[in-house]
Amino acid sequence: MKDDTVTSDPRHDSAIKHVTGRAEYTDDIPEPAGTLHAYLGLSTRAHARIRKLDLAAVKTAPGVVGVLTEEDIPGENDVSPTGLNDEPVFATGKVEFWGQPMFAVVAETRDAARRAAQQAVIAYEDLPHVLDAAEARAADYPYVTAPLKLERGDVAPALRTAPHRLSGQMRVGGQDHMYLEGHIAFAIPGEDEDVIVHSSTQHPSEAQHMVAKVLGVNSHAVTVNVRRMGGGFGGKETQMNLFCAVAAIAAKKWRCAVKIRPDRDDDMSATGKRHDFVIDYDVGFDEAGRITAVEGQFAARCGFSADLSGPVTDRALFHADNAYYYPNVRLTSHPMKTNSVSNTAFRGFGGPQGVIAAERMIEEIAYALGKDTLDVRRANFYGTDDRNLTPYHQTVEDNIMPRIVDELEANADYRARREAVLAYNASGGILRKGIALTPVKFGISFTATWYNQAGSLVHVYNDGSIALNHGGTEMGQGLNTKVAQIAADAFGVDFSRVKITRTTTEKVPNTSATAASSGSDLNGMAALDGCEQIKARLIEFAAEKWQAKPDTVRFADNQVHIGSEAVPFADFIKQAYMARVQLSAAGFYKTPKIHWDRASGKGRPFYYFAYGAACSEVTIDTLTGEYQLDRTDILHDVGRSLNPQLDIGQIEGAFIQGMGWLTTEELWWDDEGQLRTHAPSTYKIPLASDRPRVFNVALPEWSENRENTIKRSKAVGEPPFMLGISVFEALSMAVASVADYKTCPRLDAPATPECVLMAVERLREGRADVSG
Ligand code: MTE
Ligand code: MOS
Repeated sequence: MKDDTVTSDPRHDSAIKHVTGRAEYTDDIPEPAGTLHAYLGLSTRAHARIRKLDLAAVKTAPGVVGVLTEEDIPGENDVSPTGLNDEPVFATGKVEFWGQPMFAVVAETRDAARRAAQQAVIAYEDLPHVLDAAEARAADYPYVTAPLKLERGDVAPALRTAPHRLSGQMRVGGQDHMYLEGHIAFAIPGEDEDVIVHSSTQHPSEAQHMVAKVLGVNSHAVTVNVRRMGGGFGGKETQMNLFCAVAAIAAKKWRCAVKIRPDRDDDMSATGKRHDFVIDYDVGFDEAGRITAVEGQFAARCGFSADLSGPVTDRALFHADNAYYYPNVRLTSHPMKTNSVSNTAFRGFGGPQGVIAAERMIEEIAYALGKDTLDVRRANFYGTDDRNLTPYHQTVEDNIMPRIVDELEANADYRARREAVLAYNASGGILRKGIALTPVKFGISFTATWYNQAGSLVHVYNDGSIALNHGGTEMGQGLNTKVAQIAADAFGVDFSRVKITRTTTEKVPNTSATAASSGSDLNGMAALDGCEQIKARLIEFAAEKWQAKPDTVRFADNQVHIGSEAVPFADFIKQAYMARVQLSAAGFYKTPKIHWDRASGKGRPFYYFAYGAACSEVTIDTLTGEYQLDRTDILHDVGRSLNPQLDIGQIEGAFIQGMGWLTTEELWWDDEGQLRTHAPSTYKIPLASDRPRVFNVALPEWSENRENTIKRSKAVGEPPFMLGISVFEALSMAVASVADYKTCPRLDAPATPECVLMAVERLREGRADVSG
């Protein structure tokens, strides 16, 4: 059907440029003569009063032009995205984490600035510090933001009267974003109060507003531009505000272009990561493995400021049901302040930490009852007509989980392979295998309802070429390709006729972050709206000029068809221009149906759900704890795909990133609060050699979004991240085999080889009750 599908399936519009090095990133923009370079001076205490900050040696270091401290900030010393004013650009009075920016140095070269930053003489008076969420709760540390409670049914009596009841604790680690391109901002001063900032941010509008705030000027004086990012993964949603602010302050002060780009170690120390959680659960269930009641406490290490910790910990609760119906449930978040870097958005935005808690409870039940985990999962899936109410009182209306899981179970040959794994392990060798099939259900929409809006600006030039701008940013996910496809399809022209220009706050104002996987849902619709406005004018023009009925005008095959006539698109546009038809439009979209009342914990925060499932098989070495991923099969729902190539790429990448989070990526702070894993040498992300030996990824061809999304597609950016949980659960089964599957291994994440080995030893010694 012409109107419902996108005609072409082009590869990523920058694919060739990416691999040939011709794609322009912020650091590739030619520098004006006299460009200066800024570098941050970071604290070396987790919590301390600043007794003395002596920058004399910094100022006289070779190549240095000057330094910036709080006193040089013309506006407010704050870049907090929440309005809580809890995130200074430069620390004053005291520092609250190791790596906190205290000053910046500006020099003729980046190297000079970087060296000079080390010359500061700082005297601290140490204060007690708290590093992790459990410690913070024990020490009665404050929340960084108000906690959330989701509740339905009557939990206490349901737990008391449950036929079986289990409780436990799970620690789930954080994660560094490891974007290939680090943080960067490049500011160019203009006349009056003007400044242009080129940056690698997922949220140009927020960066614009922050720069205006620190400069004490109106937002209209500040332009933020983003051509593309070399990966963001949530790490550039708010964290870039700091760098944009510092570059802009320096650029205005010295009236020179100023660039700031921390090296990887400082990037990892000074910017936020995925929140690690300590989760306490108490679950009641019956003989069949059906859950009757759940109580969950979700404590997160938020760091020294709120940043996005409120919505991140909220989203953990929204996903603590994963695909399962909890008849009685109470979930509470504890967004703990800690003396560590302020944690932030990361693919899934807290959702993965909720989902893994659900999967842990499923595991507990399966081991307690001696069942296959998949049977317990199935017994608890949301229903279609009943058992379909979430803990936040939204009805699940689009449940396709059972079909997804049935199809994957068959395609991956799960039952037979599980039998084979059990038989393999029964021979009692050093190597053990595990297999797990895990589902994911993920809610799509920003839970901050006002964020679910988008704009576009569409120009058709009189040569028939189309320039399209939207509020989203390109970070590798292929958003620009999808939106260009939508525009090409609307005008019935080739993809190559559409150019998506860089994202700029000058063209589309007040945009939302490109986040929550909603980039193509929101911007695709806004772009389509812009195209449709222009088309409506063109149809009116054609009907009048060719004396035809408006409904006989069609845009297809690079032509405009009017009744039986066909005019090449470019000629038609030229004629429309000559007839003074307006060939430009601003489009707009806001997501319908959603609402959310945080105080009562009720609403419909999500427009729809995305579904998927993965089946992974692993082998572990019980002498060393090492493991390998033998095979993964994925069936992941993207509705009617806008671009199967891009969608499959997103699913593969998300799965691998999710697996990395749960296996080898370990963040480690020492007792003083210094992050010791601040480079790829000590922080291990998955390599090409860690991918599954056999990797099958499929999209359910039959799926389409029942809601009226762009071309009936579904968001794809984050949901498949949680498919990595299948690897974690398969590792758990392999470990469980050493104690005959009698006890749930209770692996914490990440399950590094070291942790797997310790869990094997623990189970062999019959110490089942200790997490670790
Ligand atoms: N894919 C690539 N290649 N690079 C990225 O930085 N970010 C992810 C996901 N996929 C990311 C990515 C995250 S965290 C989100 S929210 C979505 O892309 C954002 O883009 P979308 O809304 O257009 O899917
Ligand atoms: Mo993605 S964590 O919403 O940027």
